[in-house]
Amino acid sequence: MSTTTVKNKAESAARKKFTTRDFRLKKRSGEPITMLTAYDYPTALAVDRAGIDSILVGDSLGMVVLGYENTLPVTMADMLHHCRAVARGAQYALLIGDMPFMSYQVSVEQAVANAGRFLQEAGMDAVKLEGGRERAEAVRQIVAAGIPVMGHLGLTPQSVHQLGGWRSQGRTATAAKRLLEDALALEEAGAFSVVLESVPDRLAGLISEKLSIPTIGIGAGLACDGQVLVTHDLLGLFDRFTPKFVKQYAQLHAVMGEALTDFKEDVEAKTFPGEEHSVGIKDEEWESLLKEIGA
Ligand code: KIV
Repeated sequence: MSTTTVKNKAESAARKKFTTRDFRLKKRSGEPITMLTAYDYPTALAVDRAGIDSILVGDSLGMVVLGYENTLPVTMADMLHHCRAVARGAQYALLIGDMPFMSYQVSVEQAVANAGRFLQEAGMDAVKLEGGRERAEAVRQIVAAGIPVMGHLGLTPQSVHQLGGWRSQGRTATAAKRLLEDALALEEAGAFSVVLESVPDRLAGLISEKLSIPTIGIGAGLACDGQVLVTHDLLGLFDRFTPKFVKQYAQLHAVMGEALTDFKEDVEAKTFPGEEHSVGIKDEEWESLLKEIGA
């Protein structure tokens, strides 16, 4: 066994499942929380193996995987299907299922029932939903049912039409105050953490200071207690647009394109499959076949 394998085995033996309690502990110790999205088995496996604390099965899957213009068409069935695949791939990360548009807005009862499905049918550990004070009662009741809830404030994609497009939020004193109050309302309702999306750094810092629960930023600066990105953006797998707050760590769309055209060229030039990709048959078996069929 190589030293790397031994080290990896020792590391995974020492690694424990990340929990909502660990979210709190990390905030207390000032250690940043890491979170990424995944929507399928191989990505979940890779994110989990990279040691990321939490995986969000975000409804962003509607855009980066299903090709919709926004997240509004994503259904409970879509979410549960992708959550199950992620749950099969991830062993250690805290798994958070994103509640899709209209799965929690109609009534608190429906919100609780749909939240329950993420845990009962799809292997998630927690759910996330968008909105502030107007969702506080739903958060309270979901938490009362024993389901951890992450809030999401700022640029909340399910309200893209109400917000008048993909715009940063909290940029006036009034809007910033409202956002802070919403964050406090979510904390008071029992949320274990809040995502802050596309809000001024200073406001995210202030909210992070005022809350005892961790904030997870996306386009909200360094002062948040943790950071999340959409994995397809980080890997350069989504080529329609790249939000300003994304750091691209790779350009996998280009790598994918090159590999696919290499395949096409190999097939057309008859250089694939090579001998190493082919299945053999023993000479005596072959001779026997030819004799049998009189060839
Ligand atoms: O759906 C999603 O991926 C999200 C993150 C951007 C926080 O909500």
